Amino acid sequence: MKNSLLLILLSILTLSGEQAFSANKPNPSSPPDRKWWKEAVVYQIYPRSFKDSNGDGVGDLRGIVEKLDYIKSLGIDVVWLNPVFTSPNADNGYDISNYRDIMREFGTMADFDQLLKGMHERGIKLVLDLVVNHSSDEHEWFKQSRSSRTNPYRDYYHWWPAEKGKPAFRPGAFEVDGSGWRYDSLTNAYYLHYFSYKQPDLNWENPKLRKEIFDMMKFWFDKGVDGFRMDVIPFIAKDTAFPVITQKELQQKYNGDWSQYMGSGPGLHDYLKEMNREVLSKYNCMTVAEGAGVTVKTAHDFVDEERNELNMLYHFEGVSLGYLPDKFKVMDPNGYKLTEFKKIYSKWDSVFSRKGWGTIYLGNHDQPRMVTRWGNDSLQYRELSSKMLTTFLMTMRATPYYYFGDELGMNNIKFDQIEDYRDIESISMYQQIKNNGGDLQEFIDAQKISARDNSRTPFQWDASQNAGFTSGTPWIKVNPNYRAVNVAAEEQDENSVLNYFRKMVRLRKHNPVLVYGAYKLLVPEDPQVYAYTRTLGNEQFLILLNFSAKKADFALDKKLNPAFVLINNYPNIETNGKQVKLAPYQAVVVRMK
Ligand code: NOJ
Repeated sequence: MKNSLLLILLSILTLSGEQAFSANKPNPSSPPDRKWWKEAVVYQIYPRSFKDSNGDGVGDLRGIVEKLDYIKSLGIDVVWLNPVFTSPNADNGYDISNYRDIMREFGTMADFDQLLKGMHERGIKLVLDLVVNHSSDEHEWFKQSRSSRTNPYRDYYHWWPAEKGKPAFRPGAFEVDGSGWRYDSLTNAYYLHYFSYKQPDLNWENPKLRKEIFDMMKFWFDKGVDGFRMDVIPFIAKDTAFPVITQKELQQKYNGDWSQYMGSGPGLHDYLKEMNREVLSKYNCMTVAEGAGVTVKTAHDFVDEERNELNMLYHFEGVSLGYLPDKFKVMDPNGYKLTEFKKIYSKWDSVFSRKGWGTIYLGNHDQPRMVTRWGNDSLQYRELSSKMLTTFLMTMRATPYYYFGDELGMNNIKFDQIEDYRDIESISMYQQIKNNGGDLQEFIDAQKISARDNSRTPFQWDASQNAGFTSGTPWIKVNPNYRAVNVAAEEQDENSVLNYFRKMVRLRKHNPVLVYGAYKLLVPEDPQVYAYTRTLGNEQFLILLNFSAKKADFALDKKLNPAFVLINNYPNIETNGKQVKLAPYQAVVVRMK
């Protein structure tokens, strides 16, 4: 072999998490502020695409019940379910018309009760999606509200009387004309909707509305649910004088980012404190905010314990990396820079190093598949890079939110025509670009990487028709690679992405150093390798991740003992103890002391 390294080729180490932990010296000193939700691994399920039990092509709650043992086998602690409430599905459940009932396509309340019971019996907690910045326009409250200016529900929403002229611009994310206001001739007024016109924004200034929401939350807590993920929660508070925001002001105060403006309304933290006082403080629950518009400067206001608001939030800085400015989710042709990636995640680690607690994720229902976006989904590297990204997620100081299907290494479907898309975001944006005479081919090409539908294709259970997801016609196409990439096949293979995920979860669960240990970034300027240590008490783990398709050198300042490799996505590690040559997308976790 060509270089001067004394090569030590090791056969794969099969240390399981348990063995690793018990082989270890005494339990590292208990870190302060231990909380179950800090130690948990959250698994997100998009119910529409998980398992269809009745052949209508749509995943449902009974489908999840059927698969509870699979979910348990992953070793995860918490399931976050995307919205399951009654909805006309303009935005796949993020438009709720009845907060206290189950979407018909998904089943009944009895199915829900059975699901919750089945999870609890298996020691899994259930977190629901709280979508209360807006409801559906088909919610009874909105029907009442729009019916007359004097209706008692009028103030449940934001209305702007047309005699005052056109309201100042606010963005409507899913509208072809981009406007967040819709004119309603019935009462000659505009109503506000930050997403589509089917999702009118609720008025949190109204104490009656707040009480309705808090009562609804108690309804679900009293059933036994364990927490909420809170959809665009920073948007609930607005400046309801609706002043004009100039481009200059947006630039100066909000870095040109509308979501920062929308997420910083007056009264926001009063509402969250009230929610905590009235509801959250009464239950042993966890909460996680979708931190739309939240920056490193504002993050603590949501999650610091003494503020009595929420537990965690997830930011958008990481997942926004690599897109070109001024285009809709178009990747920089050079991809993203690993040095920037490391900077962002290290910065967010430091934000919560003394106070508060972070989250870590690379995929969810609003993001493309993680392996396509952040790894390499070629035949050669899909599995290796999926395992590498999983290693990253499970070794950071933050609660991992892991998206279903990533444990199989599922990748983007990459539709090449708009007709295949189901997502309101892709469909409206296509129309908007078309109306403006924009570059539709560029849009379609970009969507292959960035579209949300990439992560919403059916879960791949086996090699039978429709990947075993449904006996009917799936609501969205199944990724044709399901014949090779599926649970049944991966169960048979000890080295599958699935079994690697399970090992990685175990490793985290059995090593508090991976949860609470201090994080230290090494080689920040290395363009290929993301390396860091985690240290707690007398223990130190070194994590080496090659984010590239080329071999990469890494030099250590102390000796690495290959016998202490706890997990490795290759059978070997090439090292002389002081230097390591990482193979493409190699990931290793090594005990250093
Ligand atoms: C964020 C959700 O995650 C996304 O799926 C949805 O479209 C918007 N909020 C609107 O509710």
